[in-house]
Amino acid sequence: MARILITSAIPYINGIKHLGNLVGSQLPADLYARYMRDRGHEVMFLCATDEHGTPAELAAAKAGQPVDEFCREMHAVQSKIGDGFRLSFDHFGRSSSPENHALTQHFAGRLADNGLIEEVSESQVYSHADKRFLPDRYIEGTCPNCGYDKARGDQCENCTKQLDPTDLIEPRSAISGSTDLEVRETKHLYLRQSKLRDTLDKWIDSKTDWPILTTSIAKKWLHDGDGLQDRGITRDLDWGVPVKRGADNWPGMEGKVFYVWFDAPIEYIACGAEWAKANGKTDADWERWWRTDKGADDVRYVQFMGKDNVPFHTLSFPATIMGSEEPWKLVDYIKSFNYLNYDGGQFSTSQGRGVFQDQALDILPADYWRWWLLSHAPESSDSEFTWENFQTSVNKDLADVLGNFVSRVTKFCRSKFGEEVPAGGSNGPAEEKLIAELTKRIRAYETHMDAMEVRKSAAELRAIWVAGNEYLQSAAPWALFKTDPEGAAAVVRLSLNLIRLYAALSEPFIPDASAAMLAAMKTGDNSWPDNVAEALTALPASHAFEVPDVLFRKITDEERESWQERFSGTRD
Ligand code: 2FM
Ligand code: ZN
Repeated sequence: MARILITSAIPYINGIKHLGNLVGSQLPADLYARYMRDRGHEVMFLCATDEHGTPAELAAAKAGQPVDEFCREMHAVQSKIGDGFRLSFDHFGRSSSPENHALTQHFAGRLADNGLIEEVSESQVYSHADKRFLPDRYIEGTCPNCGYDKARGDQCENCTKQLDPTDLIEPRSAISGSTDLEVRETKHLYLRQSKLRDTLDKWIDSKTDWPILTTSIAKKWLHDGDGLQDRGITRDLDWGVPVKRGADNWPGMEGKVFYVWFDAPIEYIACGAEWAKANGKTDADWERWWRTDKGADDVRYVQFMGKDNVPFHTLSFPATIMGSEEPWKLVDYIKSFNYLNYDGGQFSTSQGRGVFQDQALDILPADYWRWWLLSHAPESSDSEFTWENFQTSVNKDLADVLGNFVSRVTKFCRSKFGEEVPAGGSNGPAEEKLIAELTKRIRAYETHMDAMEVRKSAAELRAIWVAGNEYLQSAAPWALFKTDPEGAAAVVRLSLNLIRLYAALSEPFIPDASAAMLAAMKTGDNSWPDNVAEALTALPASHAFEVPDVLFRKITDEERESWQERFSGTRD
C-alpha cells in the first residue's frame, strides 16, 4: 500500500467559479484521489480557499461586507458546492487560517535567516480617500499616448502601451474615483529566488516523467528574458498574513501583509495542520504527510492545476521550500491542464458567460457534469464545452450505454426469475470472450488512471460499458429463455455481476451512480476487480437485488436550447 498526498490548486474566494475552474484542478484531483483509495492506497486529499489579496478585499467591498465575514461566508458556499460535486477532500481549509498565518511567517523567517530575503525601497501611489496604497492597475487616468480616458496604471487597454502610474494624465483611484493621490516611499520584502535558479533548473531537469505542458512552462520562465526575477512578497493591504519574521515583529514592515501568492501554496501544508485540528489528530499525524524527517519520505505528492498556475508551483513555491532548508515534502508530480472554453468563446466571470458551478448543480446532478468534464478534460489542448456535445455525451454514454444496461438486466431478471440472482447454467465461449476482453480493458484503464491520463481513462471506461452492452445484446437472454432457461439464467447472473463490477470501476468518475448501482445490487462490496472472472461471481445465486430508479435521464432538445440561451451571458 502506498501513501499518496494530493492537492488541488486552491480557488480564489472572491466568487463562485465556473466549470472551467472545476475541470482544471479540483475534479481531476478528485478522480485520482478516489481511484487511489479504491485501489487500497492511503490518500490525503487537500484543498482550501485562497482568501487574501486585493480581489478578495474588493469583492467584500462590493458585497458591502467586512472582508473576514465575506470570506467566512464564501468559504461555506464553496465548500457546499464542493460537496455538491462530490469532491472527496479530506479537508477543505482556508488560507486565512491561524495555521497558515504561523507557517507563512515561519517560512519568511527561515528564508530571511538563509539570506534569501532582501528589503527594497519603492515609490508607490497612496490614496488619501481610500486610506491605502493602490496597486498599479487600480489607478486610472488618461493615456498620454492615445488620449483614452480609462487607461490603467499598468497598461492602456486602448493602444496597449505599457504605462507607469505616473505617466497617466489626471490619475484617479479606480476604487473611489478620488484624485487625492500622492507618491510615497515604502519598503518591501523581495524573495531572492534568482539565487536558486540553478538548483531549480536541475530539479526540473530531473522530472523527466512530468507532462510536457508542465515542464515547458517551467523552463520558459527559467530561461526566457528576465525569467526567474526576484519577487516582491509583501503588499500594503489590511487583509492578509501580517509580515513577521517567524513569531517576531519585522521592523519597517508594520501594517504590511504577505503577497497572496506567497501564502497560498503554503496553505497546502497548513491545510494538513487544519485537518489534524478538525479531526482530533496530533501534529505527528499531519507531519507524516509533509515532513520527510517524519515519515513523508515514502509519500508520493501529486499536484493538480491549470496552466496559469504552473510557474508558481514549479518555481516560486519550490524556491520557498528549498530556501527554508527544512525537510518539507516537495512535489513529485505536477498534472496541469489547458483551458476549457465555452460555446465558441471563453467563460467569463465578469460577463456571466458560461455555466457557473452552483447553476450547474441546479439543473443536473453532479455525475452528469463529472462525466462530461472529465471525458473532455483539456489535457493536450484547450477544449470546448458546447451544449450539443454535452447532450450527446450524456444521452449516449450515460443513458444509452450504462443506464440502459442496468435497467434492461434488472428488469428482465425481475420479470423472468424474480428479484434475486438466478441459479443454473454456466459460462460458455461468449462469456469467456467477454472476460478476456474486460481483463484487457481493465488493465488498460488502470494504466491510464495511474498515469492520470484522464480522457484516455474515460474512453476506456466507456469501452468497458460498451462491451457489456454488446455481450447482452448478442447473448439475448430474452430470446434464449424460450428454449434454454438455464442458459438465460447464466447470462443474467453474469450481467447482474457486471453491474456490481461497473459500480466499482466507475466510482471515481460517477460516484453517485456507482452508489446507486451497489444499493440496487444490495451489496457493499465495491472491491476492485483484480481477477475479472472471480469478480463476476461476487453476487452468488439467490442473492437479492432490486430494480433501481432510472440512473441517468436524457437531456431533451428543448432543455438544451433553453440552457444555451440562459447561459449565453450577463449573469443576474
Ligand atoms: O488560480 C487560482 O485560482 C489561485 N487561487 C490558485 C492558487 S494555488 C496555490 F498556490 F495555492
Ligand atoms: Zn493609449
